Amino acid sequence: LPGSEVIVVSNREPYIHNRDENGEMIVQRPASGLVSALEPVTRACGGTWIAHGSGTGDREAVDGNDRVMVPPSSPAYTLRRIWLTDEEQEGYYYGFANEGLWPLCHIAFVRPVFREPDWRMYQKVNERFAEAVVAEAKRPDPIVLIQDYHLALAPRMIRDRLPDATIITFWHIPWPNSETFGICPYKEEIIDGLLGSSILGFHTQFHCNNFIETVDRVIESRIDRESDSITLKGYEAFVRPYPISIEWPPAAMEGQKPVPEARKAVRKRLGLPEDVQLAVGIERFDYTKGILDRMHGVDALLTAHPELIGHFCFMQAAAPTRSKLANYKSLQEEAEALAREISERHGGPFDVIQLVARHHDPEEVFELFRAAELCIVSSLHDGMNLVAKEFVAARDDEQGVLILSAFAGASRELGEALIVNPYDAHAMGEAFYWALTMEASEQRERMRVMREQVEARNVYRWAGQMLLDAARLRKKQRIMR
Ligand code: G6P
Repeated sequence: LPGSEVIVVSNREPYIHNRDENGEMIVQRPASGLVSALEPVTRACGGTWIAHGSGTGDREAVDGNDRVMVPPSSPAYTLRRIWLTDEEQEGYYYGFANEGLWPLCHIAFVRPVFREPDWRMYQKVNERFAEAVVAEAKRPDPIVLIQDYHLALAPRMIRDRLPDATIITFWHIPWPNSETFGICPYKEEIIDGLLGSSILGFHTQFHCNNFIETVDRVIESRIDRESDSITLKGYEAFVRPYPISIEWPPAAMEGQKPVPEARKAVRKRLGLPEDVQLAVGIERFDYTKGILDRMHGVDALLTAHPELIGHFCFMQAAAPTRSKLANYKSLQEEAEALAREISERHGGPFDVIQLVARHHDPEEVFELFRAAELCIVSSLHDGMNLVAKEFVAARDDEQGVLILSAFAGASRELGEALIVNPYDAHAMGEAFYWALTMEASEQRERMRVMREQVEARNVYRWAGQMLLDAARLRKKQRIMR
């Protein structure tokens, strides 16, 4: 879309300036599928990314207009930060978004909580983001890419102020069925907000169908089932599936050691013998990721195959996340206790489950992927899950096995993984064993197909498809005017 202005809007920012314990300024890449996907695209398009400035050094890094050029090493686009008070973060981010919408949209059997004051704060902060878009827009018809469940009301708010904008909203998490969504006391307002978009994207057709069905039950609108479009207040929104992905080749592959060296380095760091078989899991400490469930899988593996003790280790890297919330705090404590209990019960020369609860930068994550025999992604429910795709991208040696939950969107594209039900510990134990004993030739066959898939359906294609649809829409609107 040459000549167009692109504005990305999300809660999480792509680069976080933090002051470390010694007062040194460090720049971190957050653990967020949204950021992993969108950052390379924005680097390629240029433009402005509006997000919450959450780092301890964020205010020092910006200019007088709250802007900083990023990436710091080779500036390509403007990051415009929005400052939120503690009260705003409590109500909008922790409360409404993460205690309400997050458990509402993920089937993890965690009860969503909706509080009126949180809702009011959510409305207020969505207004603040919408105002920032209007302030940043240099033209009346920018292309605005709104991201995720934190900003469901922003599309309508922007549409009211910039009627000629092309607003593409992408929902990065699942959309539940209409009965489940009906729990939300503010369902009409949320749907009205989202339908301010020109294009509304989900990862799968299934979630598009759930959304359309929800709209049908919740508000009066005109639904065209043939074109999957919904007209409300005179604007037509198209509902489309766009399976998100990663950049290819990923920037984090640059400068990676050859696989044998990565294997040695990681085993040394973890205090493990060189010939140990290593499984890794890498995510945020989130209850939707099935971290406890995969530990039960490791338990089942070792119970069935005690001969593996001393020859196998499972390393879970988990980035603390949303830690102010009781559900997240208790998960970390439970995971630590379970890892200890399983390791003690099975004995052996080293802890069979090693839990490393800290942030890992992408380069470190890729080194772990390259050092491991297998990677496990056992989400109880996940929109897409990009860890699965990153593992595949990291294995240019075409070795390594991916164990992948059937309930992650990624399982629809990566059918050559060992697909598991994370609720079935016994089956997970068997999948671990299958992975650890799989012939190199079979690993190669499976990995090759998955690599071809991720390379072909990379994140540029995800964004490209959305922008192409947007371009078509803009052309049509110009003709109709
Ligand atoms: C999921 C959400 C993203 C979010 C990420 C990290 O992937 O869909 O919107 O950025 O989790 O969570 P956080 O709350 O740290 O931004």
